[in-house]
Amino acid sequence: IPVDTFDLVLFGATGDLAARKILPSLYRRFLAGQMPEDARIIGAARSEMDDAGFRKLVSEALNEFVSKAKRDKDQIKAFLAQCSYIPIDAKGDGGWAQLKEAMRDDVVKAFYFSVAPSLFGPLAKRLRSHGIACEDSRLVVEKPFGVDLETAKQLNADLAASFEEAQIYRIDHFLGKETVQNLMAVRFANVLFEPLWNERYIDHVQITVAETVGVGGRGAYYDTSGAMRDMVQNHLMQLLCLTAMEPPTRFEPDLLRDEKLKVIRALDPVDKSELVRGQYKAGSEGPSYQEDAENPDSRTESFIAMKIGISNWRWKGTPFYLRTGKRMTKRLSEIVVQFKETPHSIFERDGHAPANALTIRLQPDEGMDLSMTIKEPGPGGMRLVNVPLDMTFADALGPEGEEIPDAYERLIMDVIRGNQTLFMRGDEVEAAWAWTDPIIEGWVERRAQPYAYAQGSSGPEEALALLHRDNRRWRDLGD
Ligand code: BG6
Repeated sequence: IPVDTFDLVLFGATGDLAARKILPSLYRRFLAGQMPEDARIIGAARSEMDDAGFRKLVSEALNEFVSKAKRDKDQIKAFLAQCSYIPIDAKGDGGWAQLKEAMRDDVVKAFYFSVAPSLFGPLAKRLRSHGIACEDSRLVVEKPFGVDLETAKQLNADLAASFEEAQIYRIDHFLGKETVQNLMAVRFANVLFEPLWNERYIDHVQITVAETVGVGGRGAYYDTSGAMRDMVQNHLMQLLCLTAMEPPTRFEPDLLRDEKLKVIRALDPVDKSELVRGQYKAGSEGPSYQEDAENPDSRTESFIAMKIGISNWRWKGTPFYLRTGKRMTKRLSEIVVQFKETPHSIFERDGHAPANALTIRLQPDEGMDLSMTIKEPGPGGMRLVNVPLDMTFADALGPEGEEIPDAYERLIMDVIRGNQTLFMRGDEVEAAWAWTDPIIEGWVERRAQPYAYAQGSSGPEEALALLHRDNRRWRDLGD
């Protein structure tokens, strides 16, 4: 279904995220017939460039970041015809009159800030003062949304000076991932899980976001951020919230975000004994973290694992274990909901059966499986085996070979539709920082040194111990 026609102004149009994600996603929606013929993408950035120069840049991005199967010469040409460019001075006057002139009044207007957060305020202010943005214009902002509670509050205030909360779309691209949305469908469109989804039946939850990439190329940003700010405060926090929240009464933006906020506010502080930070050593895949970050004394973590308690009726006593890191053994993101063992086993003689686990795989190989214990076929007695009930989305839903849409495709179209459900609200981001800040302050004060870990591993040994001492184990990553 095509969306209403729009003018989308992409600030930071010459940047890395625009090339990797935003422009390719718009092109794929165009291919899917979702972008109206008269919709326009207006690139804006500091560089002096004309429309032809920008189109060349866009076509290079598509060639690099769109799969070959989707690169069609005529289609790309038609898409480029909908792209134009205006050089803009974010902190001055240059380009704004031209932008105003270029915008149409009777279409959806969206402004996408794919720029450094320090420019959010100045850009928002100019969009208003030049009369370019109006009451129902939409504003999309990328992460990082602050580096702590104070800076996040300041950003919220800067945006609020020119835009209403209902106009602001704070991106956490994990929310656009197909499986993340499916987590909500599985929880709230089936009767099977909800009665079991609590401390009585769930032993613990594991959330893993493992990556094989290092931080080379973006070390300057990453070294001031680390895994806690880069991944936990936003992406893993969102996964935790969607797993732990109460059912919202309707699938509507504020109702859903109210429930997520309640979870964040119920998170226990994390003691230093429940936290393991790591940093990768040099290895066959590449240089050490410190070399990548060009900071030989860096104490920034490229890996973090932690145990989090949630103080509410549903979850008291059921820990959530989180881990994420760079240069790990494989690229894998998943949520494992580990159920408790049966209260009594009538099959003791025939061996022990592992408890059920629901695994939600975000990437790669999107899907879910539920491990079940059944009888091994054959006359050899009541021998128990554990088998997965497997739902790989590519098999279950997509026609063969069909790519699962990128998170950004869904999110950008939601902006045009005016649907904030999969975007973060200001108070939610602030609450997430309020929980994160003391944890970071703790290790800064202690001048804590991260543990070194080998590239291609599951992180430092100490992270394994975090579960071992609770008589639990991380899901094997196969290193
Ligand atoms: C980004 C982080 O937000 O998410 C990166 O800044 C990380 O460090 C990336 O690599 C992971 O996203 P995805 O979609 O590749 O899992």
